[in-house]
Amino acid sequence: MSKTFKSKVFLANQEIHEEWERYYLNPRLESFYEGAFAHIVATIGAKKGDAILDAGCGYCFHAARFVRHGLEVTGVDFSPAALSAAKANLGKLGLSMKLQEGNLLALPFEDEAFPFVSCWGVLMHIPEVEAALGELVRVLKPNGRISIMENSDNSLHVRFWEPLLIGIKKLTGRRTPRRDIRSQGLEEWREEGLLIRKTNIDWLVSFMEGKGMRLVDHATGQFSEIYTTVPSSLAKNVVYSFNNWWFKRRGSPRLALGQILVFEKNTGLGSSAV
Ligand SMILES: C[S@@+](CC[C@H](N)C(=O)[O-])C[C@H]1O[C@@H](n2cnc3c(N)ncnc32)[C@H](O)[C@@H]1O
Repeated sequence: MSKTFKSKVFLANQEIHEEWERYYLNPRLESFYEGAFAHIVATIGAKKGDAILDAGCGYCFHAARFVRHGLEVTGVDFSPAALSAAKANLGKLGLSMKLQEGNLLALPFEDEAFPFVSCWGVLMHIPEVEAALGELVRVLKPNGRISIMENSDNSLHVRFWEPLLIGIKKLTGRRTPRRDIRSQGLEEWREEGLLIRKTNIDWLVSFMEGKGMRLVDHATGQFSEIYTTVPSSLAKNVVYSFNNWWFKRRGSPRLALGQILVFEKNTGLGSSAV
């Protein structure tokens, strides 16, 4: 079975989505998420009633934030398990949006179908990231804006915390995942077949520029995700608070793990580039 296919099969089932829900849907992270999505809506310049595509929408917990901002959201994901959980979640929240099954490598939408696109934490799992980016650009209208959240391979988290964790694992005789350094970033494959890429942000920006996209905003996301590996709830709470503080004071995105990038297609005069 090819790695790409194995990854698709793995993402199609429910367990991995439930694992993400456990790690990332913590009430202590809500304040960061609310701030981050308010920042995205303001930076892309979406107004009530505007259409937005949430590419790789998963359980739609974040897509729901766009709905609450008054946007007309279409969510697309290739995992039927994620989409049926998304439907149930939206029902519980009393929110409605369009949901469609589809692959980011061949999006089921016409060219220039959306004025806004968001892709939060998805490209990091796609081996053929160039093809997925090409599709996101294809479905975006001229002068439309796209927001991408990816983790950085140059963050303090990746440069210092991860080597420490790997060292501890090696010392205690535990397996460590294979890591490949590629121009797209640092790629790690979980045994089940899931790719986790820490992106080379300079590569991403220059790839997008090659597609006629201009970077108009670069903001910090979460400073670190150490809370997924430390067992103590006190330590987790310290990380949640620090992440929130870093985001609110607009700390440097270059040091942080999470990166929120906004690009504009065929920008005209008057747009301010970063
Ligand atoms: C980490 S989850 C993020 C979900 C959502 N964006 C969020 O932040 O809650 C990644 C999502 O991307 C979806 N995904 C990964 N590769 C995809 C592809 N090639 N086409 C469509 N969806 C994909 C997965 O099924 C999963 O729901």
